[in-house]
Amino acid sequence: MLETTPTNSSPQESGWQPIEISERHPAILQMQQATAGVCGLPWLRPVLVGFDVDSYSTELPTRYGIDEPVSIRASVIKRRAEFFFGRLAAKLALRSWGLGEVVVTIGAAREPCWPVGFRGSISHHGQLAAAVVVPASSCSGAGIDVEPVLDGEHLPVVMGSVVDAAELQILQALAPALELPLALTLAFSAKESFYKAAYSEVGRFFDFSAAAVTGIDPIHGTVRLAVRESLCARFPPGTVVIAHYLKLLNDAVLTVVYY
Ligand SMILES: CC(C)(COP(=O)(O)OP(=O)(O)OC[C@H]1O[C@@H](n2cnc3c(N)ncnc32)[C@H](O)[C@@H]1OP(=O)(O)O)[C@@H](O)C(=O)NCCC(=O)NCCS
Repeated sequence: MLETTPTNSSPQESGWQPIEISERHPAILQMQQATAGVCGLPWLRPVLVGFDVDSYSTELPTRYGIDEPVSIRASVIKRRAEFFFGRLAAKLALRSWGLGEVVVTIGAAREPCWPVGFRGSISHHGQLAAAVVVPASSCSGAGIDVEPVLDGEHLPVVMGSVVDAAELQILQALAPALELPLALTLAFSAKESFYKAAYSEVGRFFDFSAAAVTGIDPIHGTVRLAVRESLCARFPPGTVVIAHYLKLLNDAVLTVVYY
C-alpha cells in the first residue's frame, strides 16, 4: 500500500490527521489533512489523497458527489481518475471551510474555479492528489504541487527545461545536504506551485524562465524564487517568492506557494 503519510525534514513538525468519510472505496487509500501550522500558518492546511488508479471505478464521481464534466467523461480512465481524486481532495479541503458541496469548475486555462472569497489549488501525480483551499482574506493566491523525486530518466529533461546554468549551479552546490535529484525536483515543483498561485493574477501562460530559483533552505523547508520578467503589477522583476516544501514518505515532495 502506498504510504502517503508525510514527514518533514525540517523543524515544521509532522502533523497530519486522517480524514473520515462514511464509506471509503478501495481505490481511496488514504486521506489526510495537515494540522494547523504544518505549513507555517494556521489557515494553510493542504489535503492529501492517496489513490490506486487500477481500482478506480467510473461510478466514483457520482458516489462522492464530484461533478464530472463532459470533457473529462470523454477522457481516458487515467485522466478521469486523476481528475476525480484531485477534485475529491479539493472537496475535502473545502469541507473544512464548510463548503463541501461546492462544485469546482474548470476555467478557460484549465485552472480550477473556487467559490467567491476563497483561493485554492489542485495537484495530482501517480498515486497522490493534493489540494489546498484558503480564504481570500488570508492570501491573494495559492498554488500546490506534488512531484515524485526525479529519477535518472527524467532528471536530464527537467534539468534542460526548468532551470538554466546559473540555477543549476546553485542547486548542485546544495549537496550533500540536498542531492541534485531532490533539489531539482523542489525547484521544478516550486515553479509549478508559483505558476498555479499566480496564474489568475498574471492572466497568461508564463514559462519556467519567468522565475529563477535562488536558493533552497532545508532547515526551514523553503525554496526561494526570484521573478525575472514583468508578469503583472503584483509580480514585477525581482519579486521574491517563497515556496514551502514537505518531503513525503513515498519519495515525493509537496510544495505550496501563497502570497
Ligand atoms: C499547469 C501546470 C502547472 C500543471 O502542472 P502538472 O504538473 O501538469 O499537473 P498537476 O497535477 O501538478 O496540476 C494539475 C492541476 O493544475 C491545475 N491547473 C491547471 N492549469 C492551471 C492554471 N492555469 N492555473 C492554476 N491551476 C491550474 C488544475 O487543477 C489541474 O488539475 P485538473 O486538470 O485535474 O483540475 C503545468 O501543466 C504547466 O503548464 N506548467 C508550465 C507553466 C509553469 O509551471 N511555469 C513556471 C513559472 S515559474
